[in-house]
Amino acid sequence: MATRDSLLFQPIRINQLEIAGRLIKTATAETRASEDGYVTPELLDFYIPMAKGGTPLIITGNIYVSPDGKSAPRQVGADHDDKIPGLTRLVATVHAYGSKFFAQLNHCGRQVVPRFAGLKEAVSASAKTELVTGTQPRRLSVPEIRSIIHHYADAAERCKRAGFDGVQIHSANGYLMSQFLTPYTNRREDEYGGTPDKRMNLLRQVLAAIRERVGPDFPVIIKMNGSDYLPLRPGLDTGQLADIALAMQHAGADAIEVSVGHYESGFPMVRGTFGRCLRNMVQGSMAHLPFVRRWGFRIFWPLLALLFNLIWTPQQGFNLRYTRVFKRKLSIPVICVGGFLTRDAMEAALDAGECDICSAGRAFIADPLLYRHLRDGVAGPRCVDCNACVGHLGAQPADCYHPVVRAQKYAMLEKLE
Ligand SMILES: Cc1cc2nc3c(=O)[nH]c(=O)nc-3n(C[C@H](O)[C@H](O)[C@H](O)COP(=O)(O)O)c2cc1C
Repeated sequence: MATRDSLLFQPIRINQLEIAGRLIKTATAETRASEDGYVTPELLDFYIPMAKGGTPLIITGNIYVSPDGKSAPRQVGADHDDKIPGLTRLVATVHAYGSKFFAQLNHCGRQVVPRFAGLKEAVSASAKTELVTGTQPRRLSVPEIRSIIHHYADAAERCKRAGFDGVQIHSANGYLMSQFLTPYTNRREDEYGGTPDKRMNLLRQVLAAIRERVGPDFPVIIKMNGSDYLPLRPGLDTGQLADIALAMQHAGADAIEVSVGHYESGFPMVRGTFGRCLRNMVQGSMAHLPFVRRWGFRIFWPLLALLFNLIWTPQQGFNLRYTRVFKRKLSIPVICVGGFLTRDAMEAALDAGECDICSAGRAFIADPLLYRHLRDGVAGPRCVDCNACVGHLGAQPADCYHPVVRAQKYAMLEKLE
């Protein structure tokens, strides 16, 4: 198909905002802010090539709305007005090259190693231990939940003031919003739990509070799971999650991006190979785990990697099985993240109506000029799904860490005008 006929390069609207094409950069945590969450030149360096490459929309890595919601070191914050000048500089830099830019807002809840992130404790819907990290969270009180809702609204308003074109509420992958939605992690019997509708209340109230602050025309989108992928545990299935997405559409969400899994699921959210990933994790974030888990991973990571390589083999568009179901229910744009690398795979998904927009993370980390390269038919550095970048989360700046692909990437960036 010629470029001008390809849906991939056709504009689409999210709320009132026109996005120039249907491949966007999904959120990937940057580990490039200062220790206290301010924008740095290293953070700008991550986004400039993607913006130069004509990426229609870029979503930041998850930004903490309050210090207690921080998930890792060197994460960006939007928790205080004094963060606005740095965020403004970041947005202006990206806008200078024409990309639209959304901020992903997050509170990590129980999915954190408190010592690693510099926190005293973790909080969640209920005091349910996180099995991967061993983190034992404290159950939030209702007044604390209300203050988290305010923190989301304050953070969204700061992002709007900084010039972002929209915000994304991170309600996927087992973070706090997802912990409230999921019966496995939400054992409450008050207004925030006990029934599917009450488990949705936190997300609904966060969305409403943000909407009230940013106004009707400012895009507010949600990232959700297409499946909780929690075998033998009471997680949410695709039908239940699509119903939640529909409720959020009725509550004013402008688009839904679909991912999969919690930390406790393993690695369904980044299929591929896991040797480099686990080795990097053992040296980085996992070095801060409690004793038994730390040594368990240190000893058994090669075995785990072999097992995970068999279970989560690489696949392009691996969340399309869920977006198909969401597409049947929703009239707002449905964004599919997961494994996309090639123009053929993206065009096939869009042409079949399985999603309205494709998003990619690792493919852009390997090749920040991906959008331009796909449009012009130029071969760029190709992500090999080694997940070394995932392994360095919170410990090293987000980047490609596969030696061959990384060398290609930096050779390309050296020539970039
Ligand atoms: C280094 C790295 C950091 C990530 N950080 C985030 C994040 O901050 N927020 C989020 O929603 N997903 C995050 N993800 C998950 C991605 O958004 C995406 O769902 C996943 O990488 C699968 O898409 P891909 O196959 O295109 O990479 C991260 C992934 C990677 C590789």
